[in-house]
Amino acid sequence: MDIAITRDVSRSIERCELTHLAREPIDFERAAAQHEAYCAGLAAAGLEVVRLPADEAYPDGCFVEDVAVVLDEVAIVTRPGAASRRGETAAVAEALRRYRSNVVTMRGTATLDGGDVLVCGRQIYVGQTPRTNAEGTEALRRAVAPFDYEVTPVAVTGCLHLKSAVTAVDDATLLANRLWFDASEFHLPGFIDVPADEPGAANVLQVRGQVWAHPGFPKTFERLVKCGYTPVPMDISEFVKAEAALTCKSLLFRRT
Ligand code: GLY
Repeated sequence: MDIAITRDVSRSIERCELTHLAREPIDFERAAAQHEAYCAGLAAAGLEVVRLPADEAYPDGCFVEDVAVVLDEVAIVTRPGAASRRGETAAVAEALRRYRSNVVTMRGTATLDGGDVLVCGRQIYVGQTPRTNAEGTEALRRAVAPFDYEVTPVAVTGCLHLKSAVTAVDDATLLANRLWFDASEFHLPGFIDVPADEPGAANVLQVRGQVWAHPGFPKTFERLVKCGYTPVPMDISEFVKAEAALTCKSLLFRRT
């Protein structure tokens, strides 16, 4: 990965979408500081970090992952499942056009959040959630069809997005809460299960050989260490209150 697109945090984040969580106060100053640390971590890892300005019209705007899926061959600008988030796409699409000549935009009644899209090599797993419908999944399948990817829909229950329940720690291993999705669809050999009392801890972010994990899930952190990883702590406590996770806050992709 060479490039990270991020978007600064809006003060309106206190009015973010919530589906499974009760609303708690979000400390904007702390959220902004956590976002600074996140961007600094990406830059320190050697990525070119694009920081889009906050837009107060979009409380969830800093969760750029949901508005695009970026592959080497094509960028897909999604139609997010939450109506309040649909206007977030314009600024991200404009930024993506600097890096991808092939940009496909989802239209019509298709909906898809990038948080439902887990890319593992040529396999693309797509969570079927209230945010991502069958038309959105089909639109993604059409967009990637020329490039030899296999798209597999995955049933998700109990959480917002597929990547709330499962992410990859390396090319062969997934960190997962298998109670929240249909793990039988996955072809990767290894699962590390999150502890039962940290059900929301399965979202880690791979950054150029590092595995970032939220230290607010200490048992999961420890489990990763026991499995031989050296997780990098990246505190996103204010964003967890917004029903978000580490992957939500950036679009990471290769320069082509
Ligand atoms: N608050 C994150 C989302 O609902 O999209």
